[in-house]
Amino acid sequence: MLTGRRIVLGVTGGIAAYRAAELVRWYVKAGAEVQVVMTDAARQFVTPLTFQTLSGNPVHYELFNLIQERDIGHIALADRAELLVVAPATANLVGKVAGGLADDLLTTTILATRAPVLLAPAMNSNMWANPLYQQNQARLAAAGFHFVDPVVGLLACGWEGQGKMAEPATIFEESVRLLSPQDLAGETLLITAGPTREELDPVRFLSNYSSGKMGYAIARAARRRGARVLLVSGPTALEPPAGVEYCGVTSAEQMRQAVLERLAESSVIVKAAAVADYRPASRAGQKIKKGVGSRTTLELEQTPDILAELGGKKAQRLLVGFAAETEQVLEHARRKLEAKNLDLIVANDVSAADAGFEVDTNRVTLLYRGGRVEEWLLLDKLAVAHRLLDRIRALRRGEPLPEPGCAGQ
Ligand code: PMT
Repeated sequence: MLTGRRIVLGVTGGIAAYRAAELVRWYVKAGAEVQVVMTDAARQFVTPLTFQTLSGNPVHYELFNLIQERDIGHIALADRAELLVVAPATANLVGKVAGGLADDLLTTTILATRAPVLLAPAMNSNMWANPLYQQNQARLAAAGFHFVDPVVGLLACGWEGQGKMAEPATIFEESVRLLSPQDLAGETLLITAGPTREELDPVRFLSNYSSGKMGYAIARAARRRGARVLLVSGPTALEPPAGVEYCGVTSAEQMRQAVLERLAESSVIVKAAAVADYRPASRAGQKIKKGVGSRTTLELEQTPDILAELGGKKAQRLLVGFAAETEQVLEHARRKLEAKNLDLIVANDVSAADAGFEVDTNRVTLLYRGGRVEEWLLLDKLAVAHRLLDRIRALRRGEPLPEPGCAGQ
């Protein structure tokens, strides 16, 4: 994902410095080359050896030592960086940068770089709220610096409030976005994911095996590529990807309402959710008791077909459905493509052990309006998401689609 990308990570002196170690692991795992720059105060919290071990590179902290080095002086560090991240960024660091100061290696590198700079502030909640701090951050934001704001939590000083550094996963996500082509900027994708639950009584429901992984992968990939993402999801065990506008629902009817409310804002709709086709005709107010006989009958009624309803309100939007099948996959999918007035349907055989529900991989066939078919090999769900988004972008722009039938495409 970040193979060979060059990230400089600045670490300043706050208790959240230890969480920067986790961030280095995320970057390295994604294939990035990480150079860590520490301030003097940061070294009071975590030793350089920790970052050197995790990054596999020497840690930089002495401005004048680096000036003497030929290979990687501070200007070279600043020039080589494709992204400069500071996590945690103290109020002091933000204040110095806002004032244009360059009195140590980190501030000098920030001032010298032309790479995007991402700051993840962490501080006491009163410092965060202080108008002087807020003016500094606003000044930097206006100058093009990027921020991942702190979250509300228990702070090291004992206070509870906004000031806790954002999760490393959130900072990582924003880093990937800043390093990705923003080729979906201007699009608003409405994506559904996960299962729906149709309640029989207060303790039981009908549902399916959808984990949400496929839909969340599309949401994550689209957000990284600059789209605004509205994610409507049934119950899953997944964290919504950072930066998406999330709406959690339970039943098919709730999903329908949430989707219709967001329809006007969206330019592309991708329905990866596994919506229950049937629900109990009535929901018992109390737990249904075991009867006398060994059998019972459940009366079911159809849920609203959300995608079919959207097919009737398509306007200029691009409408993409999924088809989860266990037999005659292409025939059933083609029928759904036509019946629901879709532009594209992604068919997957959910009886395969390595595709469809729950697993991290999928093997899909794309059927387009007009008859084009693309059969893809087994891919990671994030790779499926990116390739699908390539097609969506091409369709939206009226550009030619990639040649079908290429390996892995
Ligand atoms: O979540 P994962 O574990 O990662 O699994 C991924 C997946 C298998 C759920 C996903 O790849 C997938 O196939 N999603 C569609 C599942 C489904 O409900 O397929 P379907 O063939 O029953 O429905 C066809 C389309 O109509 C789907 O886009 C569905 O969202 C939509 N639909 C269906 C019924 C209904 N009442 N309303 C709908 O909008």
